Amino acid sequence: MLCFRLSSSTLLLAATCLLMTADVSTQRVITCDDDLNVQRLSCDSGVISVQAALYGRTDRETCSEGRPPQQLTNTKCSQQGTVDFLRKRCDGKSMCELNTNVVRTSDPCPGIFKYLETNYTCFPAIRIVICEDSLAQLNCDQGQVIIVYGEYYGRRDQTTCSYQRPASQIQNVHCSDSTSKVSKSCNGKDSCIIKASNSVFGDPCVGTYKYLEVAYTCQYPV
Ligand SMILES: *[C@@H]1O[C@H](CO)[C@@H](O)[C@H](O)[C@H]1NC(C)=O
Repeated sequence: MLCFRLSSSTLLLAATCLLMTADVSTQRVITCDDDLNVQRLSCDSGVISVQAALYGRTDRETCSEGRPPQQLTNTKCSQQGTVDFLRKRCDGKSMCELNTNVVRTSDPCPGIFKYLETNYTCFPAIRIVICEDSLAQLNCDQGQVIIVYGEYYGRRDQTTCSYQRPASQIQNVHCSDSTSKVSKSCNGKDSCIIKASNSVFGDPCVGTYKYLEVAYTCQYPV
């Protein structure tokens, strides 16, 4: 379950799964469906890894306070694709805030009062963020090698790499490109430099000032 997007050798993959059993307990956060409610996922150390997410209703008790009974009757209600959305938005970050109106793409059960329930862990990874056109350096102690667990080039919030950038360049927070460039060039090495630029990653959103986020671990090769 906790062996992520590792494209390299199965040996490295096995090592990462082992590492995971040592740590991580799952955290659960439930946010009742109200456009003003904020759901916040955060990790003091490591990075967010969304395990499961539900937008809908699967019991009568959750978020039932002050609600008429007929809004609680459907307990098999869940919106498709919710976990993928949460992963795309939050995985690899140390903090992620959202509300239900960005998660809702359709109404999975009209008339029923819904909630967003997310289970996540804090994956013990090193996280770096590099603004567009700067160089990222990934480093491991001698004898250890880099294993990239997640990488992202684009923009998914308005604050990261925003210093003195015009508003128009930081507005688009749905600019994403899933990439495997960093893992391809860095996995298995003890250090690695990569440029956060369109020339390396392509341009997923022209006119937006972007950044590269990488989460990686250092491990002894098996
Ligand atoms: C989150 O974890 C709890 C406890 O294991 C489980 O009961 C619940 O169904 C999980 N939530 C989702 C959305 O899978």
